[in-house]
Amino acid sequence: MTSVTGTSGEDRSDYTRTESVHIRRRSQRLLAGLMHPVRGHLALAAVVLVVSTALRVIGPSLIAYGIDNALPAVIEHADWLPTVGVFLVYALSAIGGAALIGWYVLVAARLTQAVMLDLRTRIFRHTQRLSLEFHESYTSGRIISRQTSDLDSIRELLDGGLNELVSGVLYGGFTLIALLLIDVQSGLILVVMGLPLALLMRWFYRRSQLVYRESRVVSAKVIVKFVETMTGIRAVKAFRTEDRDDREFGELSEDYRAVNMRSMRLFGTFEPGLMAVSAVTLAAVLLWGGMRVSTGALEVGVLLAAVLYVRNFFSPLQEVAMFLNQYQSAAAALEKVSGVLEEEPSVPDPQRPASLPAASGHVRFEDVEFGYGNGRTILPHLSLDIPAGQTIALVGTTGAGKSTLAKLVSRFYDPTRGRITLDGIDLRELSPADLRRAIVMVTQEAYLFSGTVADNIALGKPDATLEQIQAAARAVGADAFIQALPDGYDTDVNKRGGRVSAGQRQLISFARAFLADPAVLILDEATASLDIPSERLVQEALQTLLAERTAIIIAHRLSTVAIADRVLVMEHGEVIEDDTPDALIAGTGKFAQLHAAWRESLV
Ligand SMILES: Nc1ncnc2c1ncn2[C@@H]1O[C@H](COP(=O)(O)OP(=O)(O)OP(=O)(O)O)[C@@H](O)[C@H]1O
Ligand SMILES: [Mg+2]
Repeated sequence: MTSVTGTSGEDRSDYTRTESVHIRRRSQRLLAGLMHPVRGHLALAAVVLVVSTALRVIGPSLIAYGIDNALPAVIEHADWLPTVGVFLVYALSAIGGAALIGWYVLVAARLTQAVMLDLRTRIFRHTQRLSLEFHESYTSGRIISRQTSDLDSIRELLDGGLNELVSGVLYGGFTLIALLLIDVQSGLILVVMGLPLALLMRWFYRRSQLVYRESRVVSAKVIVKFVETMTGIRAVKAFRTEDRDDREFGELSEDYRAVNMRSMRLFGTFEPGLMAVSAVTLAAVLLWGGMRVSTGALEVGVLLAAVLYVRNFFSPLQEVAMFLNQYQSAAAALEKVSGVLEEEPSVPDPQRPASLPAASGHVRFEDVEFGYGNGRTILPHLSLDIPAGQTIALVGTTGAGKSTLAKLVSRFYDPTRGRITLDGIDLRELSPADLRRAIVMVTQEAYLFSGTVADNIALGKPDATLEQIQAAARAVGADAFIQALPDGYDTDVNKRGGRVSAGQRQLISFARAFLADPAVLILDEATASLDIPSERLVQEALQTLLAERTAIIIAHRLSTVAIADRVLVMEHGEVIEDDTPDALIAGTGKFAQLHAAWRESLV
């Protein structure tokens, strides 16, 4: 589907008919796409499986032949040839069948692993490529379960369950055919007993599906409660909610136990039921066969073969019933995974990208209207011209739309109406690589990836030398604290001693941005975690670093405004004041009031 909101409620189960058809088609498309590259292997596995199953089914018929024909030949004419023949065919078919099964296991494993590898990388690539809008509505917990538990249930099915299921069904079918061929009347008894068997299987499948679904819901609740408590452990401790959490977790665990008991009870009914049907069938075949043997209408060997076939027919059924569940959960997982994979980025890459190797940094908003998703309009009508090289300070009340404006310039979202251009080129048409090189945003959440401090700074320019990395760090005043870390620039940020403070993280992400050397730099509250001296240091650095760059600085501390060429005051998504800092301070507008209040707070 194209819309983000359309599938963001993916984890529900109350689909309408057309929706379910659509979802089923979607899964089938994904399955077909996954199977296409491995179709050769798939065909091979199918042939190997059919041949090996057929070989397994020969056994009882050979025994019948041995008892009814080969044995009398030995007794009556001392002719050992048929017996030796039976022995050889039996041994060969058993060995051949076993070897083929071994081969099949390998072929199937190779198939499974190829499909899983493909699926795993597809999910990662696709989820990473999707726009921010998707990630905001699709929680990270759900993305994680796509990549972990959903993939696991698909793997479990492919690894073992599907084998059992397909070979069990195939074996049952072949056995029935063999039985019908060797003795039609016993075969008909089995067919008739198929009715109660089918009813029992259907009952079990339906009930277990319900219980299974409930168990998934309850187990998800248990996990969510656990994860939430542990990730919010600071709030838990601060507000002393341990007792309440204990109680709630205890209740959820109790529910989980109860649901599992119900599922066990289901097996407690199903297994004896299956045994009963099997026993009754066997008894009927034996009774009717025995009567015919006594009148000479049936040979003893055939009766023995019929009994063996009936027993073999029932033996895989319990496993088949168990794996129907696994099949069910894998199908559900596939549905969810296919949902993520068919999500289109809401900020698509251009069809024919315009290249801009050296941007000058001239940014224009032309009649831009914007709202998140299908929600209310945040920016009703914005027109703005930022000449190349200008430093803008963007101020305004909380929720005015400052970060929204910054995210639009970075093309994390596209405007609903109008356009935003860089050097006259619509951002939607600009090649993504050039866009990322030209425009860099630094936000308050300075994220550090695992690796060294140097690696983290080099993110902005992967081919940077250590000298360049150090120069960038020096420029923003991060050099001193990095040198003081246990291994300097080679300190692992995840190791003990490599842990840095929030402010230090911001300095690192500043260094990262300066190393990237973009034409347009956006700072959204990027200095919020810095103390006054560090912020002053960054500001001094900014003055030189922003010299020939376009910059949009969003800051609550008005000291930043001092280095700006121009101040924009935003309110309710509109720019209400736009002038040089001095002119605005001298005036009587909103900014003059803010500035006066700020001055007062300083003394
Ligand atoms: N991802 C989002 N989805 C939906 N609405 C959003 C989203 N982000 C922000 N908003 C809404 O857009 C409006 C503007 O938010 P924005 O973050 O641009 O404000 P801001 O000026 O940066 O505020 P602050 O000074 O607090 O950072 C707010 O009313 C907010 O509710
Ligand atoms: Mg903001």
